[in-house]
Amino acid sequence: MCGIVAYTGQREAYPVILKGLKRLEYRGYDSAGVALSEGIGLSVYKKKGKVSQLEESLIGKQLNALSGIGHTRWATHGEPSDRNAHPHRSSNGKLALVHNGIIENYASLKRELVNKGYSFESDTDTEVLLKFIEDIFNHQSESLEEAVRIALRRVVGAYVIILLNEDEPGTLIAARKGSPLVIGIGKGEHFLASDASPIIEYTKEVVYINDYEIAIVKPEELILKNLGNDKVTPFITQLDMELAAIEKGGYTHFMLKEIFEQPTTVFDCLRGRLDAKEGTITMGGVDPHLDKLTNANRIIMLACGTSWHAGLVAEYVFEELCRIPVEVEYASEFRYRNPVIKEGDIIMAISQSGETADTLVAMDMAKKQGAFLFGVVNVVGSSISRMSHAGTYTHAGPEIGVASTKAFTAQLTVLMMIAMKVAYAKGTIDQKRYLHLIRELDSVPGKIEVILETNEQLKKIAERYKDARDFLYLGRGYNFPIALEGALKLKEISYIHAEGYPAAEMKHGPIALVEEKLPVVFVATKDAYHDKIISNAQEIKARKGKVLAVISEGDDAFASLADETLPVPVADELIAPLLTVIPLQLLAYYIGNAKGLDVDKPRNLAKSVTVE
Ligand code: AGP
Ligand code: GLU
Repeated sequence: MCGIVAYTGQREAYPVILKGLKRLEYRGYDSAGVALSEGIGLSVYKKKGKVSQLEESLIGKQLNALSGIGHTRWATHGEPSDRNAHPHRSSNGKLALVHNGIIENYASLKRELVNKGYSFESDTDTEVLLKFIEDIFNHQSESLEEAVRIALRRVVGAYVIILLNEDEPGTLIAARKGSPLVIGIGKGEHFLASDASPIIEYTKEVVYINDYEIAIVKPEELILKNLGNDKVTPFITQLDMELAAIEKGGYTHFMLKEIFEQPTTVFDCLRGRLDAKEGTITMGGVDPHLDKLTNANRIIMLACGTSWHAGLVAEYVFEELCRIPVEVEYASEFRYRNPVIKEGDIIMAISQSGETADTLVAMDMAKKQGAFLFGVVNVVGSSISRMSHAGTYTHAGPEIGVASTKAFTAQLTVLMMIAMKVAYAKGTIDQKRYLHLIRELDSVPGKIEVILETNEQLKKIAERYKDARDFLYLGRGYNFPIALEGALKLKEISYIHAEGYPAAEMKHGPIALVEEKLPVVFVATKDAYHDKIISNAQEIKARKGKVLAVISEGDDAFASLADETLPVPVADELIAPLLTVIPLQLLAYYIGNAKGLDVDKPRNLAKSVTVE
């Protein structure tokens, strides 16, 4: 989710906010806007596109204001457009709001407001929140601050919000739950932002707002309260990071930051969809088309690169659970063949960027032949999402590192939820299996946290193998695509040649490569193939190859065989790919880093391949 900047004090607010939004550009965004509390009232300026385009559109305008709020949007509800950009304005025009995060129960709140006669200019969940606050302010609260408190008690989801009220110029009301907010303490002024990068040049004294806290911020005063209206003492700390470090959240690289974000991004992907308590999966993009999916003759996964690996995992999952034939196609090959596409075929296009040229062209071809296009995309409003007849966003947030990590696990999470929904609707799995898989998926964020705690051991393993010339990655079943993904990560980040293979395929030729210097990575969590993959590892050991093994915690049999073990928590074999990929992402990162390479921007690569 994107960026927020706000200011109140004696300076001109607009330049401070604009510069602050530029400092947050590294987070990726699709639109930007500002609201200023000027002497003559509240002004709102917002545009789809870059901050520089917003800036250009405001040249020559009189923007004298001593307080204001700004936003860079990463759309989740409502495609990128001028009207969906933030700040949003209340019906009476007196309030302006910026928001980072997702309001999960926005649909039910919107229905309530529509029944009360409210209308909406945007498709966003944010505007619903604002008008919900406005309605409470108009009918049942003494102050705007109290209205915010009452409203947030009913809101489900993640948010940082900052409100500006035309009738109280200079006063900002901010609140957070689940998304970050920092307040910089100046002399007679305050700076608010999603992280410290817009603040650090003005002050190093900051307060990190906690979940369920509300801040009432004036030039000379900062009051913190909880939702119970009890005052909270602000805890002031000194910023000790440099700007560059702040942008990466204190991590050395965006890739490492994004690997460590995965407990949160998988949780965000599940948020508002999978309910382990109720035992339900609700997906707005799937439910209206569930019949089409349950009656599909065939599903064709269309993707490139890492997204293609997600499609390969999905093939195993959909065929196992839904008993629907699945084909996984490299979009770049599919578009040049003359593929047979029939009525009843469903094309699932998987893409982080939503702009991959090969995938777009292949989709267009399939669409012309009557296929139903379902997009699994990270960037809201991207070309692939707009070309699809339906789809589900992965909500992984902006992925800055060229090598895809958090977007991949988010893709797997969405695809698994869809397969589970379809299988349960078809009756190819019973309620017991459905509830078991829901619980398994719900436990993934916590299990990823456990794996991330092994990063120091992975760093040591990387040191030991960073000079290898070749790697082999082997896996079976659901873990075979993860072997391919682990090999791709290593190639992309360390420039070491690596190949992924089905473990049983070794004996058909590649085993000739095995020698003492060759590290062989097994992705071998406990599953139906476990005994067989142990035999494969023994074949490698017999030829003096080095065995690095991603194994289930407690798998002593495989551990006794391996030169290095990369343990992951026990999980259902269908869910295991969400876990087994994590140590392989870290291994690739630490090897690339140990070799002193630019892991965020590897040579020859682009984040989105928009050329053919
Ligand atoms: C993955 O690490 C690579 N950066 C690349 O293979 C990428 O997955 C591929 O280009 C597809 O991109 P997309 O998901 O944005 O369509
Ligand atoms: N959910 C809000 C929207 O789609 C905020 C997105 C963000 O965090 O930028 O507008």
